[in-house]
Amino acid sequence: MIAMAAVVVPVLRRHEPRREAMQLLHDSGLRLRSLGWGALGLLVLTGVVQAGYRAGGLAALTRVELWASPWGHVLAAKLVLVVVILGLAGFHDFRVGPRATLLSREDPEAPAAARLRRQASWFGRVNLLLSLGVVGLGLLLVRGVG
Ligand code: HEM
Repeated sequence: MIAMAAVVVPVLRRHEPRREAMQLLHDSGLRLRSLGWGALGLLVLTGVVQAGYRAGGLAALTRVELWASPWGHVLAAKLVLVVVILGLAGFHDFRVGPRATLLSREDPEAPAAARLRRQASWFGRVNLLLSLGVVGLGLLLVRGVG
């Protein structure tokens, strides 16, 4: 995510010719997409194991008292954030992003292409911010709430 925001997109924004830049953005986006979703899957899996470990067993995650505790509230907030991130990432990586690069590859100056690029950019940035939020909540869970 950071690689895309800090390296790929800024470099390709300055790259000429624009059609070639859009082809490169398309190809690197698709490559990152496979790696990114693999990493997301792994994070979800390790997250469940970690939560079970900290709660005192996976079965403890089904107890109402756990979810009523401050720790449970933070965990619930983190889960909601993760679901939102997965939704936004899916929309960015499989819909807006590819549409933007495909259209921009045909005609980089087309208003529709520019609009889609702006949308893709916002989805990417918002998701980056939300991901930092997840890291913060993870730290809270590990270091103790309250
Ligand atoms: C793991 C996969 C991906 C991640 C983490 C990611 C992340 C990001 C981020 C953070 C931005 C915002 C950068 C900025 O505006 O400063 C962005 C923008 C963008 N992304 Fe992605 N992206 C991914 C996959 C893709 C794919 C598959 C495509 C298209 C095939 C794509 C196309 C775009 C486009 C067109 C922009 C806007 C570029 C611009 O503003 O000129 N991305 N992405």
